[in-house]
Amino acid sequence: MAETIRSYGHPGITDPLSCERSGGGGPSATLSAVANQPALGLPTEFIDLARELTEAGVEEVLTELDDELIGLAPVKTRIREIAALLLVERVRRKLGLSSEPPTLHMSFTGNPGTGKTTVALRMADILHRLGFVRKGHLISVTRDDLVGQYIGHTAPKTKEILKRAMGGVLFIDEAYYLYRAENERDYGQEAIEILLQVMENQREDLVVILAGYAGPMEKFFRSNPGFRSRIAHHIDFPDYADGELLAIGELILAKQNYKLSDSGREALAHYITARKQQPHFSNARSIRNALDRARLRQANRIVRSAANLKITAKDLMTIDAPDLLASRVFGQDATANSPLSDETESTFD
Ligand SMILES: Nc1ncnc2c1ncn2[C@@H]1O[C@H](COP(=O)(O)OP(=O)(O)OP(=O)(O)O)[C@@H](O)[C@H]1O
Ligand SMILES: [Mg+2]
Repeated sequence: MAETIRSYGHPGITDPLSCERSGGGGPSATLSAVANQPALGLPTEFIDLARELTEAGVEEVLTELDDELIGLAPVKTRIREIAALLLVERVRRKLGLSSEPPTLHMSFTGNPGTGKTTVALRMADILHRLGFVRKGHLISVTRDDLVGQYIGHTAPKTKEILKRAMGGVLFIDEAYYLYRAENERDYGQEAIEILLQVMENQREDLVVILAGYAGPMEKFFRSNPGFRSRIAHHIDFPDYADGELLAIGELILAKQNYKLSDSGREALAHYITARKQQPHFSNARSIRNALDRARLRQANRIVRSAANLKITAKDLMTIDAPDLLASRVFGQDATANSPLSDETESTFD
């Protein structure tokens, strides 16, 4: 079976379950130290919020989020609100005003390619900077990583993943596949029970994000109220508008030192309209895939014209209309004569 577990950022401590919360260094260490002190005298003591914010570097992550992610206005607003809540919570802890660790488990719902994984990574970073998780890494899994095929396999599998995720974020993609209503004996139920227990008992050291399409997710929560009651923040990721997809395309290219010519931009706009009508459209991911193919075609175009060409940096950077219009999204099998024709076998991009 294909390895679907992805781990991002801050790897390290080999046995995270055995780690002391105050032993990891970073912001949470400072926090634990402070938490052990008696509450500061109220109400004359004050804490410089602006300094707290700067020290944690959260504003940086939020600005990056604004700059590097197109659209997603409601998502960005929610993240800012959560960051503010966490900052206030952190200060309240310093002043001895809170004792319980807050529940930070979340659900991210939205169609494919709407930025859920990308935002989860940023969220892990924010949680780490504010000292709510020790390491700030993210482990991304699906049902197959948690649920075994045979009796007795599920518990060790789930526990192993949880162990790896401790101190960070466990991102469970298409979480509803964990639950199979039609099969009473499904091993998914065992994974669910372990997850629920850890989400309740170890919430000071692990944040779980359940992700998936809105419809099945709602059904999943209805069948598993235990999950719903443990989720503090539900964030909905809307589909992107055509203009946003175009801007995402330009951003993806700019990061790779490419740009669209004027006619290339027009072609990408047409591509977006046409691609949305076809099966398996997945928002920003479809745009990324389309541009990967456009780069292949551009390279092929450049190499084919090599005999009469002194190539410039501008040529190498420019994605032109034909690089996009050759896509089979436009109906004609324009790639039939191209050595790249087989790359479109399994996709519409
Ligand atoms: N708002 C955005 N601005 C720029 N790039 C974006 C944006 N949203 C998504 N992307 C890019 O699109 C790709 C897909 O995004 P991501 O993997 O986060 O989506 P997803 O919702 O997790 O998709 P899936 O449900 O298929 O897992 C990534 O390469 C990401 O960088
Ligand atoms: Mg994803």
